[in-house]
Amino acid sequence: MSEGTTTTRGSFASNFGFMMAAVGSAVGLGNIWKFPYITGEYGGGAFVLVYLVCITMVGLPLMYAELIIGRRGGSDILGALRKLTQSKGALGTAFSYLTGLMAVLSAFLMLAFYSVVAGWAVYFFLLSVGLIPAVEFGNATVFDELAANARTSAICHTVFMLMTIGVVTLGVHRGIEFLCKTLMPLLFVILTAMLGYVAYTGGLDQSLSFLFRPDFSKLTSSAVLEALGHAFFTLSLGMGAMVTYGSYLKEEGRVIRDSVAIAALDTIVALLAGTVIFAVVFQGDLEPSAGPGLLFQTLPELFVNMPGGRFVACVFFGLVVFAAWSSAISLLEVVVAYFVDEWKWPRFVAAGGIGAGIWALGLACAMGVMMTQDTTLQDGLDDIVSRYMLPIGGLLIAIAAGWLVLPEDGLSGFRHMVKGGAVFGGIWQFLIRFVTPIMVTIVLLWQMGLFDAWLKGETPAPPAEKGELAAPKEPAG
Ligand code: TRP
Repeated sequence: MSEGTTTTRGSFASNFGFMMAAVGSAVGLGNIWKFPYITGEYGGGAFVLVYLVCITMVGLPLMYAELIIGRRGGSDILGALRKLTQSKGALGTAFSYLTGLMAVLSAFLMLAFYSVVAGWAVYFFLLSVGLIPAVEFGNATVFDELAANARTSAICHTVFMLMTIGVVTLGVHRGIEFLCKTLMPLLFVILTAMLGYVAYTGGLDQSLSFLFRPDFSKLTSSAVLEALGHAFFTLSLGMGAMVTYGSYLKEEGRVIRDSVAIAALDTIVALLAGTVIFAVVFQGDLEPSAGPGLLFQTLPELFVNMPGGRFVACVFFGLVVFAAWSSAISLLEVVVAYFVDEWKWPRFVAAGGIGAGIWALGLACAMGVMMTQDTTLQDGLDDIVSRYMLPIGGLLIAIAAGWLVLPEDGLSGFRHMVKGGAVFGGIWQFLIRFVTPIMVTIVLLWQMGLFDAWLKGETPAPPAEKGELAAPKEPAG
């Protein structure tokens, strides 16, 4: 790579800044919304245990693979793969284009519907602060009305997209790193404070025993597959987000430690959020299996009856907005990096232009445009991206890292380990070559409904709601 290209590309100024950006990408609606409600649906402890195994066995190897591809390739997902698979000739190039373009497309589509859900979080934040005086906070019907109200959903989505485009326009260091360095520690402080709050107001014991006491009789095969699929989504894997952030890293000495830390922090946030949310649910004497409506229906209703609950609600929805914001930024950055690196677009043109395209697609989602006769565009996009594109992207990236990239690049992170580098490198190579592809293929086949006959009668989640951010369809409580 020429000197010129290296210097015009942005980079993270510090490893801490990079860590916070990567954690910001991973920590999102998946942690605060999806994780607690699927844990509720699948019965708690045993599900959490399986989820932790999936994070370690599949999530972690792929996290490292994405970061090292980015770091060694020094470019957007397509460019990085193309560079690192050069030794494979035309096969490598074709593979890079397939993987890269699909990843960029996934990020584009995903941000469209992610932003609509994030917009709802913005709405609940404004509502809890009292900025929407006409609507009563805590009323269970608020969410249904919001989801059905095209204009309000569209306005909130627009606000959220502007926030996202703004930060990405400012660049990697001045925008993304600066914001995440501020928001992520704040997010941890808020979650810890909320933990203290529920420890004081009650429900903590029940919540902890629900989340951490495994009852294996509740563990079905679909729970295992759901856990595996979610491990993927929650770590932002399969669409080059971590490749893109890895490419802004200045040194590679810490990639191993960073991968472990990102996966660990993401898991800690999910568990903390789950603990807080279930404590609130148990305080209100409700069942933990409230389903997807947990965040926007059950919680607001419960908050209003708690001491200082209105204030806690503001803080809580502020947290949800932060989490979604830093994830959305990394989604936009995947696409922007592609246009900046491959097509040499100026950053502000890429951020503004692509952002506007995503905004328009999201607008169609917010307006309730239908994709087929009985699927909304919002749910349909979520379904296509979360169920198919992310796992396929992950599979391709695993194959690239395990089989197409030269070991000197793929294993380079392990060379910096003081002890055991060769052993851990060998383990990683085995996992990424065999275990990850096989597991991901199984999830994919399951998503496609190939095991349905076999799993019949044991799955609590109907297939239509398997998309990660499908709008709540069942009333809470
Ligand atoms: N990890 C994010 C969450 O938990 C969602 C997500 C999935 C994501 N893939 C991504 C975010 C890629 C950014 C980039 O909500």
